[in-house]
Amino acid sequence: MLDHSISHIVKKLFDIDLEKVVIEFPKEVSFGDVALPLAMQLGKQLKKNPREVAEALVKAIEAERLPEIAKIEVAGPGFINITFTPEYLIGQIKGGFEKFQQENTSKKILLEYGSENIAKSMTVGHLRSNIIGQACANMYKALGWKVTSDSHIGDWGLQFGKLIVAYHLWGDKATIEKDPINELVKLYVHFHEEEEKDETLTDQARAEFTKLEKGDIENKKLWQWFYDASMKEFHELHKILDVHHDTELGESFYLPWLNHIVELCKEKKIAVVGEDSSVYIDFGKGKQPLYILKKDGSTLYSTRDLAAIEYRLTEYPDLKRMVYFVDYSQRPYFEQLFATAKKLDWYCDFTHAYFGLVRLPEGKMSTRKGNVVYLRELIAEGIKRAQEILEEKKVDLPDTEKEELAKMVALGAIKFGDLVHNRASDVVFSWDTAISFDGDTSAYLQYTYARIKSIMRKGDYEEKVVNKVVFTLPIEHHLLSFIYRFPTIVARAADTYEPHVLAQFLLHVAALFNQFYNDVPVLKANNDDEKETRLYLISQVANTLKNGLGLLGISVPEKM
Ligand code: ARG
Repeated sequence: MLDHSISHIVKKLFDIDLEKVVIEFPKEVSFGDVALPLAMQLGKQLKKNPREVAEALVKAIEAERLPEIAKIEVAGPGFINITFTPEYLIGQIKGGFEKFQQENTSKKILLEYGSENIAKSMTVGHLRSNIIGQACANMYKALGWKVTSDSHIGDWGLQFGKLIVAYHLWGDKATIEKDPINELVKLYVHFHEEEEKDETLTDQARAEFTKLEKGDIENKKLWQWFYDASMKEFHELHKILDVHHDTELGESFYLPWLNHIVELCKEKKIAVVGEDSSVYIDFGKGKQPLYILKKDGSTLYSTRDLAAIEYRLTEYPDLKRMVYFVDYSQRPYFEQLFATAKKLDWYCDFTHAYFGLVRLPEGKMSTRKGNVVYLRELIAEGIKRAQEILEEKKVDLPDTEKEELAKMVALGAIKFGDLVHNRASDVVFSWDTAISFDGDTSAYLQYTYARIKSIMRKGDYEEKVVNKVVFTLPIEHHLLSFIYRFPTIVARAADTYEPHVLAQFLLHVAALFNQFYNDVPVLKANNDDEKETRLYLISQVANTLKNGLGLLGISVPEKM
């Protein structure tokens, strides 16, 4: 509506066809609900002073007497700040994600996250991939995209040759069956120790892997056993984390297409066959080539990734975006991979949504193996700590509910401690900061939500639209204005695959609410209309916190 009127005015005043009216949020919420940078943009185009352009625009918009606008003014170098009527904001809030959903209905995105390795424990690195990836998948769904999530399981490669050799030499079936992943990891580590003393082990491993590649029945059986045991464990952890994948097409899934990929690259003349008969993609002088076939004829990680891309583009026609949630150590690799896809004329917006490492301050809470932290232990420790805090805070709930709550708080802390930071930066995870009730934590948000719910119960408030909005204080409008931003914030966070934008926003909302609740009586408001308005406001804060945290994969308690 506003968009239309503005485009119309711009056409009339300056004879310019606007593609889109860009809407920003002003730095200070007291400046207005939205800020349009339009005059700056037009000023450049028209070679005019942006302030003058802004003034002309404001005058024309005012003349239209749009019912949703309560106040409009020029600010700074030429921003147009608009304050809407509360009724308009409430209507927009009620519409939720509708506007975005209409815009995005036919857009398809594939998000790849998780991608654990068979016979290896899930690490905090895979944890980040799952948490950030799932949060993005949730956001894209809310925004109306057609979302597919896939886990590119690491289930192929020489490591299986090594495992098979190790199993034959030192493995014990019964022990492995009791605790598959840990035992397999032990075997793998032991293999590497022994390999340093005995080089023939490497050749044996190669031979076993070749047998596996050629379809040897015994080796295939072992592989399947390792695969099933590992997947069982990953699935258990995914369930705890509320992580879902539509498909889990591991590297081995793409084996039937690997020859074709190598041939295709040769045919299109983008691959070079080396003297040793290895095959690689050449990116020019001084640049690292990307190998897709080893000299012994075996394929690589990259070959399987190329096959995966071709498969996905065929399986999901008109796929618009393909996103990989993988740590930043693989950045150079993904750059090569995407460049190769481009050479192959495979069209799609590829993104490597990379993330930094998680570090733990030394301490006995983490069982470390190298720098690996096992997720199960992380979760167990979190629950223990959450229980302690709930005791300390004298949270008054029946035991079973308290247990559930401890789990919710612990998982929230683990996820939020990750999602609140820019994904590209390294995270130093510390329980003391992650699980506290104050500061930038999920426990603080969960607590704020439960607090609002308790006020609503006391006020006998049932969710409904207010009959009569009575605002007496600026902070009431500010709160409403913030709630109105929610879907746009989600859209921004999704667009750059940065859930921290949403996490930070939720912290702002909670802070503003707490300021409001400190200063303004809700249940003891002056009259029924005021009370009703304020209860409506806080109920919307609660909704925003619940929905926002929900998108981040975090649940909220009704009582705390
Ligand atoms: N399995 C790999 C690892 O744990 C990550 C796979 C990333 N995805 C991909 N398509 N290459 O390091």
